[in-house]
Amino acid sequence: MPVASTVLADRYELGRQLGRGGMATVYEARDKLLDRAVAVKLLRVDGDATARRRFAAEARAAASLTHPHAVAVYDVSTSEERPYIVMELVRGTTLEHVIDGQGRLSTAQVVAVGSQVLAALHAAHRRGLVHRDVKPANILLPDGVVPSRPDELPGVKLADFGIAKATHEATVGLTMAGQVIGTPRYLSPEQVRGQRATPQSDLYATAVVLYEMLAGHPPFEHDSAVGLALAHREDEPPPLDEIRSGLDRNLVTLVHQALSKDPADRPADAVEMREALLRSQPVASGTHVLPGPDASTQVVPQRDAPPATPAAPGRRSPRLLRWVVVLALLAVLGVLATQVLTQPSAPTAEPTAQAQDPSEGAGQPAGAGDAPAQEAPAVDAQPEGQADPPPPAEAQPTAPPSAEDPQPSE
Ligand SMILES: Nc1ncnc2c1ncn2[C@@H]1O[C@H](COP(=O)(O)OP(=O)(O)OP(=O)(O)O)[C@@H](O)[C@H]1O
Ligand SMILES: [Mg+2]
Repeated sequence: MPVASTVLADRYELGRQLGRGGMATVYEARDKLLDRAVAVKLLRVDGDATARRRFAAEARAAASLTHPHAVAVYDVSTSEERPYIVMELVRGTTLEHVIDGQGRLSTAQVVAVGSQVLAALHAAHRRGLVHRDVKPANILLPDGVVPSRPDELPGVKLADFGIAKATHEATVGLTMAGQVIGTPRYLSPEQVRGQRATPQSDLYATAVVLYEMLAGHPPFEHDSAVGLALAHREDEPPPLDEIRSGLDRNLVTLVHQALSKDPADRPADAVEMREALLRSQPVASGTHVLPGPDASTQVVPQRDAPPATPAAPGRRSPRLLRWVVVLALLAVLGVLATQVLTQPSAPTAEPTAQAQDPSEGAGQPAGAGDAPAQEAPAVDAQPEGQADPPPPAEAQPTAPPSAEDPQPSE
């Protein structure tokens, strides 16, 4: 076991232990070459050559992922046959620690954490990288702060991308027919069935985390790992709104949908799930969730969403024209009505003639004064004028948000 003085590859000087998981120990360390603080995760499980190769391959894939809400992987190597990963050091705590300490989180925090996790997952999925181990212990919180806005930075950092597969499956055998190793609190039904994890499995695990943040406990709990795994495969989660009142209905529906046993019944992808989550955000004082300082925190549409329908050219013009005419006529009739009312003895005027040449009307004797009755036909004569609403916003179709990928730093 390495001690404080251990230096890996004559480069990474290990310091204090940051944490310890099922297979690895994580140390704070100093990269002497680049003179920066890093975290080093050193596997305790040796594994065979194949396992090490797979581990290295997965770590390389994880290293290709750069995202504000993913822990950056800097390097991967082996020391005395034991693989290790050098990654971004996150000083703070984990979501697991926060939930253990305080139980439920506010809805705003749940939406913020969930949307940031899903943004990172989206970036991974589009690279063909499945996380496979989304859980509160892998959601790191810099400075121990739980974000309460989706655009809040630094926000959360999702750790261990893709690495779980390389380690668990290669060296331990995470799921074999009927056999489950590890804590299957976040294990998708298909993984329990021994099938490969897919992006849909990550969505399921994210839903378990969302459920846990809202309820203060996960949807399924069991004394034995096998019982827990079977619950994921067979049981319906207790309805969230029976556990916590006052939750947004859409939020409850989304979490339960993403907990569907059949992957096909879950949201189509991380983007869709993130959008739905952001829509369930309780909106304060008529404001909307704003795009964050980096594009990754924007509300992103489905990637295969239909293109925005462009504004039909000229569609707005006839309606606008009609209203200009109507308003002009109303103005003219208003002038006429004023004249009639202020000259009660004048004879009935020819409104149109007066309107065309006001100077003539000024010297005309006043008519009998039933001008209002004569104004009506003039207004009615405008085609469809009264049927249309005023022209402003309604006539300008709002383009859906950009379908661009939300990950700026990839
Ligand atoms: N990049 C990091 N920066 C700072 N601390 C970290 C980092 N990565 C992990 N840790 C800490 O080390 C602990 C152990 O991490 P590790 O990934 O080995 O185990 P785990 O995720 O808790 O469980 P499992 O072994 O099932 O994956 C984490 O809970 C966290 O407290
Ligand atoms: Mg971890």
